[in-house]
Amino acid sequence: MTLFAYRNRALHAEAVPLAEIAASVGTPFYCYSRTTLETAWRAFAAAFAGQDATICYALKANSNLAVVRTLARLGAGADVVSEGELRRALAAGVPAGRIVFSGVGKSRGEMKTALEAGIFQLNVESLPELEALSDVASGLGVVANIALRVNPDVDAGTHHKISTGKKENKFGIDFDHARAFYARAAALPGLKPVGLAVHIGSQLTGLEPFRDAFRKTGQLVEALRADGRTVSRLDLGGGLGIVYRDEIPPEIAEYADMVREATRGLGVHLVLEPGRALVGNAGVLVSRVLYVKSGLHRRFVILDAAMNDLIRPALYEAWHGIVPVTEPPADSQPEPFDVVGPVCETGDTFATQRPLVPPRAGDLMAIRSAGAYGAVMASSYNTRPLIPEVLVEGQRFAVIRHRPSYEEMLGLDHLPSWLEE
Ligand code: LLP
Repeated sequence: MTLFAYRNRALHAEAVPLAEIAASVGTPFYCYSRTTLETAWRAFAAAFAGQDATICYALKANSNLAVVRTLARLGAGADVVSEGELRRALAAGVPAGRIVFSGVGKSRGEMKTALEAGIFQLNVESLPELEALSDVASGLGVVANIALRVNPDVDAGTHHKISTGKKENKFGIDFDHARAFYARAAALPGLKPVGLAVHIGSQLTGLEPFRDAFRKTGQLVEALRADGRTVSRLDLGGGLGIVYRDEIPPEIAEYADMVREATRGLGVHLVLEPGRALVGNAGVLVSRVLYVKSGLHRRFVILDAAMNDLIRPALYEAWHGIVPVTEPPADSQPEPFDVVGPVCETGDTFATQRPLVPPRAGDLMAIRSAGAYGAVMASSYNTRPLIPEVLVEGQRFAVIRHRPSYEEMLGLDHLPSWLEE
């Protein structure tokens, strides 16, 4: 469900017209709906109610402090993949005891910060990383709870750039090595292996790949127990897809039923790491049409937003809905347009031959489903300032990240002494 809808022909976020926010903060900007975040969280939490489980929101999807705090206040834990995200989770008020640190390469400095904070678990993905963590933890005189991330060699059936569970992907430990690995972890000082972790990809729209991966991992839990190991936790990662266009992803309740069935009888504490499913449809990117250009072969809508603001179409050929902020009359006829940004790259294209009621320069357009992997993946390529983020709640809105000034941006660079004069 989203709360981005037309009222009196004006696209609103909850009760606030997007045009009003545009007039106040300028374009482009990201806009999130607090109520949509809460609804998504409640649906996820309700599906797992009564289950021995911690739901750790994957900050990589959207790590704005206000977004994370909104979810933390509702009871979310956090899945982080860097010291920066760990600091964001703590600053947003996520208790350390509900934070999981994932990722294929944690530096020693990051391990130290995580151990000093006393987080719930670190997911380890290679032998050298395991040894480094043992070293850091023993040096600090603490014991790190670790889960071994395994690679189940399952095809997630999603875009190849966001598939992580095939044996040729860099993620996780081969299943065949897992038992020896677990034994090694148990033998090293400063480590307490508590379970396994698995994550096969993102934007999955079918349950089968999850079911395969979770069953295989469940069998590994049993094999480890037969070896005499203690396995008390199973981290099932994230990956549940959302509707961008006409996908039919599983309902959260179906996903939860599948999880229950695949892990039945294992007696493990579950960790879930949803990202996109909680925030993806809670945000839009609002942009203004700079120009409409008619070429011989194509017509282009040139927006003031670009690939540096939302890279998903350029990187994954991702499809995002694009709608006018002022609803066109019901009898208007859509025509095909390429929707592009001003960056000097052909890849700076949000949509190709998209049917749109012909927009005019100055019109506002909203790019939908931009709450996940939007602002967090932005860059300042072409020295375009990072764009502001706005959070709406009912009739009010607040800027939750400001647009940096050019002085702030240029101030990050320094001239060496020999270039100063
Ligand atoms: N846990 C782990 C270990 C992950 O690697 C990820 C995402 C998640 C949880 C959260 O997955 P989600 O529930 O959001 O699917 N930038 C890409 C998506 C990359 C996902 C990377 N890992 C995109 O824009 O589609």
